[in-house]
Amino acid sequence: MKHKNNNIVLIGFMGVGKGALAREIVRQNTSFYTLDTDDMIESYTNTKIKKIFATAGEDAFRALEQKTADWLANSVKNAVISTGGGFYKVNNLKEIGTVVYLKADFEWILNRILNAHNAKKKLKKRPLFQDPKKAKKLYDERLEGYEKAADIIMDVSSDEFSKIVEKILKAT
Ligand code: S3P
Repeated sequence: MKHKNNNIVLIGFMGVGKGALAREIVRQNTSFYTLDTDDMIESYTNTKIKKIFATAGEDAFRALEQKTADWLANSVKNAVISTGGGFYKVNNLKEIGTVVYLKADFEWILNRILNAHNAKKKLKKRPLFQDPKKAKKLYDERLEGYEKAADIIMDVSSDEFSKIVEKILKAT
């Protein structure tokens, strides 16, 4: 299912591995380049996500995500775009590219974060993952939304990254 912009948009919960997978896709197919919506927002606001949440608030952050989505839809081609966990709610997601939902159980995600060599840093930069109970609630609330927003659903807990990349490249 090739999109007119030839972009692949990775959506899914915090910590599922959207950034790592985007980098792996580009390693296997060098005609793509990667972008990350959180990095884009931090770059053009010159402010860390954590600080945006703390000072401007979540609604302001969501507005920045929408602005990023508009840029991506209008100006970006041939990119693998990893997104923040709430980015799937922008109103023009499908205009950006083929939407791939990276799916895994909450427990798998939690273990992936806690077992990372930089676990503390990974947790610290994510304001909505401070309390695992609250994060689990958010995960449950979003599950259906992710599935509805997706063109393709990939279970990332069952295969090696390289295998998942192969499958994504075949399907997009
Ligand atoms: C968020 C996920 C984060 C980041 C922000 C909000 C969310 O991105 O955009 O902290 O609402 O799930 P990651 O999915 O990369 O952690």
